[in-house]
Amino acid sequence: MSLTPHPLPPGLAGLTGLTAGLPVAALQQLLSTERERFCELHPRSLALAKQARDHWLGGVPLHWMQDWGTPEPLHMASAAGATLTDVDGHTYADFCLGDTGAMFGHSPPSIVAALQGQLAQGLTTMLPSAAAPEVGALLAARFGLPWWQVTMTASDANRCVLRWARAITGRKRVLVFDHCYHGQVEDAMVRLEANGQVANRPGLVGQAADLALHSACVAFNDFAALEAALATGEYACVLAEPVMTNCGMVLPVPGFHEALRELTRRHGTLLAIDETHTLSSALGGYTCSHGLEPDFFIAGKAVAGGFPCAVYGFTDAVRQGIEGVQATKAPGHSGMGTTLSANPLALAALRANLAEVMTADAYAYMERLARRLEAGFVALLADCDLPWHVSRVGMRLEVGFAPQAPRNGAESEAAHSTLLGDTLRLYLLNRGVLVTPFHLMMLTSPVTTEAAVDRLLALWREAVMALAVPRKFVHECNARS
Ligand SMILES: Cc1ncc(COP(=O)(O)O)c(C=O)c1O
Repeated sequence: MSLTPHPLPPGLAGLTGLTAGLPVAALQQLLSTERERFCELHPRSLALAKQARDHWLGGVPLHWMQDWGTPEPLHMASAAGATLTDVDGHTYADFCLGDTGAMFGHSPPSIVAALQGQLAQGLTTMLPSAAAPEVGALLAARFGLPWWQVTMTASDANRCVLRWARAITGRKRVLVFDHCYHGQVEDAMVRLEANGQVANRPGLVGQAADLALHSACVAFNDFAALEAALATGEYACVLAEPVMTNCGMVLPVPGFHEALRELTRRHGTLLAIDETHTLSSALGGYTCSHGLEPDFFIAGKAVAGGFPCAVYGFTDAVRQGIEGVQATKAPGHSGMGTTLSANPLALAALRANLAEVMTADAYAYMERLARRLEAGFVALLADCDLPWHVSRVGMRLEVGFAPQAPRNGAESEAAHSTLLGDTLRLYLLNRGVLVTPFHLMMLTSPVTTEAAVDRLLALWREAVMALAVPRKFVHECNARS
């Protein structure tokens, strides 16, 4: 098969110099070749993409499905365990795992059985199913908080938490960390500008309100800024991921979570820990493995084995606060909760996942593979003299394109190279391995194999080697200058 350069998308063409320590020209050439290869390998996906453009915005049922950096969207035929099969019959070792939604593998047998058992017994009733008491007890046992509610998505759960926090404290403002992502939650879509002011996130569409009126953000790991904000006594809630995982991976520095908890308590601010992604940390999430003591705990995506469902938990003090608020209102019309939430299928999936899938054994296996992956990357970066780093939280890890791990979202964003990310991702995809879009995160599941991990590492090495000659050239140029 002869491969000819394929046009690059706007924004990735015409760049010069180095990116993440590698020559842009060599990357552009490799990306162009890989785009061509993609088109040759995926005729059926290309044909479906062409048809889909007739009625779907951007040719996809959800607009960001075009953002994988492939010339056309890859269309999937099926997903099972840790393997995807596309419509052209290619299989992929899946290290993206639905951006954690399929953390325990695609269609785990226990979830399938639970859903099949419920399917003919009613899909939605607006009443609790018989599984409700057991699921409540499982949530409390697994995540350590006594009181729970179910929503459809983690976005919904976060929105509910912010509303309750405002209602309980009587304060309007919420604080998040710069470059955070908590789903489709407007309150969290603020950014810290270069002048230190807080503003609506660039790219935010259709938002009429100035979000800075009721939301603010400070940089992750910035103790002083956090203290200064909370000392105003204006904040109802801090909403935080325990490790930032949506702007690249940013780990907390030692003492940061202790300070966050102490300061929120001191200033009467509720602390909401969003574990939607960091369920990958360990059994019980980062909260349980690191002894955090949040007022609210949020989990979605993988919490019901990938079936659409999310939960939020809270302390008894919060429960009393909520009931105090409810006592002042007429029943109903709280503006929280959606019709299909907590439907019998969601409860069945939650029960099966908490009791049978999300087990200590599963986490032990996932962690062993994630450590193998981490060790492989550390060796690769050293062997190839690449100025990058590896960050890991439990079963999920990222190769970041800067020598040092970032301390906050802005540093992480500055280190990212879209050109390099897109090139590596497409190189892997064309050879049967999938990693996350936007970033290069990789997650192991209880059904990922050692062979898949080793293949992923071998392909990264191969891709880097494809750029090794130019890298050597860069060294020589640097030495000469
Ligand atoms: C930390 C975090 N919270 C919440 C969400 C929202 O989840 P969903 O899209 O399922 O509502 C996401 C999505 O990526 C997330 O990363």
